[in-house]
Amino acid sequence: MIKGQCKVWIFQSLYALVAIGSVLIFFLAMACAYLYVFPYTSTLVYKHGMSNSSDSISECNVFEGSWIQEDSYPLYNASQCPFAERGFNCISNGRRDRGYMKWRWKPKNCDLLWFSAREALEGLRGKRVVFVGDSLSRTQWESFICMLMTGLEDKTSVREINGNKITKQIRFLSVEFGTFNLRVDFYRSVFLVQPASSPKHAPKRVKSTIKLDKLDFISKEWIDADVLVFNSGHWWTPTKLFATGCYFQVDGALKLGMPITSAFKIALETWASWVDTTINSNRTRVYFRTFESSHWRNHKPCTVTKRPSSLTGGRDRSSISDAILGVAKKMKVPVRVLHVTPMGAFRSDGHVGTWSDNPSVPDCSHWCLPGVPDTWNEILFSYILSENQMGKDI
Ligand SMILES: *[C@@H]1O[C@H](CO)[C@@H](O)[C@H](O)[C@H]1NC(C)=O
Ligand SMILES: *[C@@H]1O[C@H](CO)[C@@H](O)[C@H](O)[C@H]1NC(C)=O
Ligand SMILES: *[C@@H]1O[C@H](CO)[C@@H](O)[C@H](O)[C@H]1NC(C)=O
Repeated sequence: MIKGQCKVWIFQSLYALVAIGSVLIFFLAMACAYLYVFPYTSTLVYKHGMSNSSDSISECNVFEGSWIQEDSYPLYNASQCPFAERGFNCISNGRRDRGYMKWRWKPKNCDLLWFSAREALEGLRGKRVVFVGDSLSRTQWESFICMLMTGLEDKTSVREINGNKITKQIRFLSVEFGTFNLRVDFYRSVFLVQPASSPKHAPKRVKSTIKLDKLDFISKEWIDADVLVFNSGHWWTPTKLFATGCYFQVDGALKLGMPITSAFKIALETWASWVDTTINSNRTRVYFRTFESSHWRNHKPCTVTKRPSSLTGGRDRSSISDAILGVAKKMKVPVRVLHVTPMGAFRSDGHVGTWSDNPSVPDCSHWCLPGVPDTWNEILFSYILSENQMGKDI
């Protein structure tokens, strides 16, 4: 009797497997058909229920979704990646819980493609990828390199071209993947526009300035990149600016009363007009990452949770991100905005907290590696690879 049931069960399971297999093959076939018919639209994602009109696929907003548990994560071991800096490697700094590394981003109406380091390396052969921005940009740069390195058997061919160590103040880092003739660069430019000294006859409290109408002079180094990824945001605060005696300049004139939000918009417009007049959009793909949610609490030490929060607590919106989205929309050169603000808002578990290189101050801005920045890169890799494809079709 038991044996009989067992047989029936096995039979049913087999039947179910075949059924699931057919469904999967069907969706795969539909996906291929879709790619064939619409090679120019983004191939970043697979939509559930492909049978509906194609419009709904391009309508999928990959930045709207939720985090789901994924046992096969993380994508790499930071201790085996020489480019993951110690300050972000939470495990090696004593973090015990591991759950924070096991979350995959699930867009609401579609799925992200699975990351394949081999495919990414092939797709980036001969290219120069440049990250520009603050320390959050450096984190993404580190994550990008660590993810790619999992696709290599011989990791000795990957090196920083000047033999530099990763430090907080360093202006330029460049990692070369010798076998793939690929370079992944980082330029520290926290405001994107040009830092300058205090003008003559300025009030005493003015110690330095930022020229909002001039792009950072190292910007000339960014021009011939194939992929450019920008960010800026965490330094546009009263603490980082006015409290240190740093004020704004526009067209040579000091703007003492200018609010930070207005200044940020002017800086972004300077950036946008630089991109529009300097970047060859046939060669270079431009991305701008929005504000990376932080989880500080008013005047209290922040706490890193064990699990993502179920509510965003308003952190899914940011005036910095709104400004970026607004400016990008009006540009001549197409700029993809990596709108990571909403996804990060849930990840109160992902910050370095006290598992950093400065454990006396909990840090709820930066993220552990592996962790949330890997998701920014999964999305970035998907865009780069699908847009590569586009280039070939043309
Ligand atoms: C397909 O999408 C349209 C709107 O985009 C919706 O009205 C319709 O119900 C959808 N059909 C199915 C089968 O989901
Ligand atoms: C990561 O690598 C280190 C050093 O090789 C090793 O000790 C550790 O067990 C690894 N961690 C995991 C989770 O595999
Ligand atoms: C980009 O390519 C198009 C089509 O090949 C060409 O017409 C255009 O002049 C190119 N633009 C630049 C800036 O090279």
